[in-house]
Amino acid sequence: MEAIKSIGKHYKVTIAFIVSIIYILITMRFYKASIGSITFGSFFNDTLENGTTLKSKYPKVILATKLLNLENILEIKNQPTIDGTNIFFIEALHVLEDPPNFIGLRQACSFESAARANPHMKIYIVFVSAHRSVKLLMNEQLMALLSYPNVNIVMAKLRSFAAQTPAGKFILTGGLRYSKYPVVHTSDIFRFLLLWKYTGTYMDSDMIVRKSIDELGRNYACADGERGIIANAFLNFDAEDGRKIVENLIHEQINLYNPIQYGTNGPVLLTNQLIKMCGTNRTQKMIKMDNCDGFHVHSRQLCYPILPTFYKNIFNESYTEILMQNIKNAVTVHMWNGLTFYIDTTKNDRNFYTELAKQYCLKVFDAIDSKF
Ligand SMILES: *[C@@H]1O[C@H](CO)[C@@H](O)[C@H](O)[C@H]1NC(C)=O
Ligand SMILES: *[C@@H]1O[C@H](CO)[C@@H](O)[C@H](O)[C@H]1NC(C)=O
Ligand SMILES: *[C@@H]1O[C@H](CO)[C@@H](O)[C@H](O)[C@H]1NC(C)=O
Ligand SMILES: *[C@@H]1O[C@H](CO)[C@@H](O)[C@H](O)[C@H]1NC(C)=O
Repeated sequence: MEAIKSIGKHYKVTIAFIVSIIYILITMRFYKASIGSITFGSFFNDTLENGTTLKSKYPKVILATKLLNLENILEIKNQPTIDGTNIFFIEALHVLEDPPNFIGLRQACSFESAARANPHMKIYIVFVSAHRSVKLLMNEQLMALLSYPNVNIVMAKLRSFAAQTPAGKFILTGGLRYSKYPVVHTSDIFRFLLLWKYTGTYMDSDMIVRKSIDELGRNYACADGERGIIANAFLNFDAEDGRKIVENLIHEQINLYNPIQYGTNGPVLLTNQLIKMCGTNRTQKMIKMDNCDGFHVHSRQLCYPILPTFYKNIFNESYTEILMQNIKNAVTVHMWNGLTFYIDTTKNDRNFYTELAKQYCLKVFDAIDSKF
C-alpha cells in the first residue's frame, strides 16, 4: 500500500516537473514573440510631442517613450467594480504572432462614443494577449481617447487571466490551439470571462454608442434581426442572475467548442441557450416576454438598427438620411466592421458613418488626418 502511494507521489512529482518545463518553454516562446512584435524606431517623431499638451492620464509615458505599455487588468489600481458600471471592449489580435501596435481609427471612434455617452461608467479596452506585454504606439487618436478620464486601456494575459475563471483548464490545456478563427474565438470566450469576473457590459469594437446604456437595464442581449439570432456583440450580466447565466454559457461554450466554425461559439451558442431559457425559439416572443430566467432580449432597433444586409449603405452618401431615420430609438449602432472594414472613407464624406462619427466621437474625428 505504502509502495503504491510512493509510486503515485513520484509520478505526480514527475508530471509536475514536465509541466513546469513545458510552461517555461512556452513562456520563452511568447517572450521571443513579444520582442519581435514591437517595432522601435518609427515612433521617435517630434511632432508627437505636441500631444503632451493634451490632458492625459499618462503624461509621463507619453513624454518618456512614445509607447504606451499596457498594464495588466489584474494589477491596475482602478479595478473594475462589481456594480454594473464597467463597459468592456476586447482587442484579441494580440493572440497572433505579430499583432499591430496601434488602435484602429474606427475602433477608437467606438471607444470614445462609449466613454462620452456614459461618463458615469468605466470603460476598459482589454487587449487579450498571448505575449508578455502589449505596447501601443502613442498617436493623436490614442491621446484623444486617453483624454477621457473614464477610459482605461489594459491587457489581460490569455493564460493567467483565464486561469482564475471557469475556462482555466480549457485555455491552459491549449483549448484554442486548433481554432481556425483564433481572434474571434478568443473574443467570444473572453467577453464571457470578463463579465463573469467583473460583471457589467461588453460591446464589440464596431458599435457606436449614442446615449447612456442605463435605459437597457441589466442582464440583456439584443436580437440580431436576421435568422432568429440573438447576437453577442452587446451583452450585460449583473452580479446576481447574470453571473449564473454567464457561468452556464462558459460551461456550454467549452463543452461544445467548435474550432472550425466562425459563429458557433458566440451568437449561435447564446441563441441556443436563450431558446432553452425562454422556452421559445421565436425572437419576437423572447422580446415580448421580457424575462427569461432573469434575462432580457431587447429588439434590434435598440442595439443593431442597421441590418447587415444593407452594410454598403453605411458608407454611401445617398443613404445618409434614410439610415438616420432608422436610428431614432437606438442606444447603439452596429457598424458591421467585419463586412465594412475594407470600404474607405474620408473625413469630408457625408455618409452615415462620418455623420455619426462627427457627433459621437468628436475628438477622434478631429485627430485623424483624412482617411478614416
Ligand atoms: C512625423 O510624423 C508626421 C505625421 O505622421 C510626418 O508628417 C512627419 O514627417 C514625421 N516627422 C519625422 C521627423 O519623421
Ligand atoms: C498642437 O495640436 C493642437 C491640436 O492638433 C493644435 O491646436 C495646437 O496648435 C498644436 N500646438 C503646437 C504648439 O503645435
Ligand atoms: C422552433 O420551434 C418549433 C416548435 O418547437 C419547431 O417546429 C421549429 O422547427 C423551430 N424552428 C427553428 C428555426 O428552430
Ligand atoms: C450609392 O447608392 C446609389 C443609389 O442606390 C447607387 O446608385 C451608387 O452606385 C452607390 N454608390 C456606391 C459607391 O456604391
